Amino acid sequence: MSGIDTDFTHEHVVVRQGARSGLPIVVAVHSTKLGQAIGGCRLAPYPHWSDGLTDALRLSAAMSDKCALAGLPNGGGKTVVALPVGGPPSTADRTAVLHDVGDVIAGLGGSYATGPDVGTGPDDMVTIAERTPYAFCRPVDAGGSGDSSEYTAVGVLAALHALCSERFGSDDLSLRSFAVLGLGRVGGHVLRMLADAGATLVASDIDESLRPLADAAGAAWVTPQECLSADVEVLVPAALGGLLTARSVPALRCVAIAGPANNQLDTPATADLLHQRGILWAPDIVVSAGGIIHATAVELLNETSAQATVRVSGIADTLASILHTARTTGSTPAEAARSRARQRIHGGRG
Ligand code: PHE
Repeated sequence: MSGIDTDFTHEHVVVRQGARSGLPIVVAVHSTKLGQAIGGCRLAPYPHWSDGLTDALRLSAAMSDKCALAGLPNGGGKTVVALPVGGPPSTADRTAVLHDVGDVIAGLGGSYATGPDVGTGPDDMVTIAERTPYAFCRPVDAGGSGDSSEYTAVGVLAALHALCSERFGSDDLSLRSFAVLGLGRVGGHVLRMLADAGATLVASDIDESLRPLADAAGAAWVTPQECLSADVEVLVPAALGGLLTARSVPALRCVAIAGPANNQLDTPATADLLHQRGILWAPDIVVSAGGIIHATAVELLNETSAQATVRVSGIADTLASILHTARTTGSTPAEAARSRARQRIHGGRG
């Protein structure tokens, strides 16, 4: 019992009913110790608004570690708008929701800035920015750094190189087989980039209309369930989190896992199950950092997108070093990543 999974030491959590939309809006600021808290705005259906709160607490805490490991001068935060199950809001409702979100963020006085996440994109950041300046990733022609999903995918590819090098002794992706689970904005890019690298591919999404993406990449289309336990070397989780559980891990046939999905483990103990099965798991907080690295480099440091992309590729070195630490200390990659993040956040005092 480490108690780490219940470490909800958040600085500030706002739960408010949107004045225009009537929807529950949660903004969780986990930490500003290293600087302004950042983290995307998630618009997703939840059975109960308190499930959205739980998600925001977990996701914002993970963002603190993600920023720390990416070497950013930022802490972690997250926004969750809990939508009713069954049906997205209309266009008019969407503007109302986003203005409500903007007002809550404006009330935090700059301690937190948002960005796109599941259910939101760059255009939504323009709408939020009508109420507060703290929104990353507006489209480039609107003065922002644009859609970050391509850069998140660049980071995932960098991570896959480091993972393969550690697990197979070669970072040549053309020698390997991958199952990409989730072909949304990031997963779609990852699949295409893996195809370009000559990899053998299996792909899936709950949305059947994305099948042409798999066909174009020469990937075999399977159901999400089949994809999770596909007979490949590397699993790439690129959909919603929580897919690695005490129930799913025994059925896995891969030997390594790295993908951009946030919070892939249902609970921290699942990292031990993966370790016991000899499956090398690259911590999602390292693998998925490409979007925030790119957005902050362009919007806060005024770098060009090309310079920022070089920074994103640094994820390969970060992951290689964490996997090396895990191997030499006999810990799981999850533990190695977490302790490195805590060290940076607490300046060695943690
Ligand atoms: N989905 C991204 C994340 O939470 C959102 C983001 C991108 C936030 C860029 C800030 C800047 O990691």
